[in-house]
Amino acid sequence: MDNIAYYSEKVAIVTGANSGIGFALSEELLKRGAVVYMAGRSPDKLKEASDKLSSYKDRIHLLVMNVTDQQQVQKGIENTAAEAGRIDLLFNNAGVGATLPYEQATLKDWKAIIDTNLWSVIYGVHAAVPIMLKQGSGHIINTSSIAGIIPFPFQALYSLTKFGVTGYTESLKYELMDKGLFFSTVCPANIATPIFNKSIDGKSHGDLRVPDDAYPVDKAAVLILDRVSEKKGIIIVPEEPFTGMWKNYVSGELDDVLTQMTRDRRAAFEKGGMYF
Ligand SMILES: NC(=O)c1ccc[n+]([C@@H]2O[C@H](COP(=O)([O-])OP(=O)(O)OC[C@H]3O[C@@H](n4cnc5c(N)ncnc54)[C@H](OP(=O)(O)O)[C@@H]3O)[C@@H](O)[C@H]2O)c1
Repeated sequence: MDNIAYYSEKVAIVTGANSGIGFALSEELLKRGAVVYMAGRSPDKLKEASDKLSSYKDRIHLLVMNVTDQQQVQKGIENTAAEAGRIDLLFNNAGVGATLPYEQATLKDWKAIIDTNLWSVIYGVHAAVPIMLKQGSGHIINTSSIAGIIPFPFQALYSLTKFGVTGYTESLKYELMDKGLFFSTVCPANIATPIFNKSIDGKSHGDLRVPDDAYPVDKAAVLILDRVSEKKGIIIVPEEPFTGMWKNYVSGELDDVLTQMTRDRRAAFEKGGMYF
């Protein structure tokens, strides 16, 4: 079966579906024939997003849940399984970014980003695994980041959460593979979405700013879904040059690049600007 037909009639939940990568994944899943539960914390934003996909409305369901609330996630996932009869794919995608000097981060920031980026994934997996074990099948796709395999400077908060997502997902991938469950870790580099002008609380500040080198979000969704259907574990988006960069980091050959990046970013912060 090709990686388009693979998705036909599969039941998928996507968190953070009203924006960015989650919206693009929802759209691409719908194009490929899946039934999509678009999850988000704001009913208004979900409605606005799903209205843009109205040609697929028969296969769209809206799921209101704040991913930092364990009970909402548990209920949302269990209710979906009860209504749809199964869950084939869970995309734990919702998250926030953070690039700031360590000295500026408060403990409130640390707690907030761990809640949104890490506990959300733990809650989703906790709710979905028993359902998938009972089914004897299922695929959980957790969104980490390129910063979840390479620790970039001024991203200690973000990297902590994303390295957590990567390690957690990779470990479960091996542990549950013989029970019919698959796990993938999505590691995007810069993708053109609204994340770049949002703070840890998810609120937007100023005009939308996207780095010049950002990869198109629709192409990111196509690549992610192709690799998910191939059951790939770590999915780097785009694959090059970032797979090469990751290998260089592991072999200690990225030190000079990361050192220079540190100096550039510090200089940018000292001038009061963002790094990109
Ligand atoms: N874009 C990139 O360059 C990039 C790179 C690496 C990794 N990522 C990761 O990719 C994922 C998606 O990011 P994106 O770029 O698509 O950003 P985005 O456009 O800002 O979308 C983030 C989504 O997460 C949702 N969300 C945040 N907190 C939530 C909460 N407590 N409960 C429910 N939903 C919540 C947002 O909902 P609201 O609209 O209600 O806030 C929004 O739908 C994130 O995990 C991010 O870390 C992105």
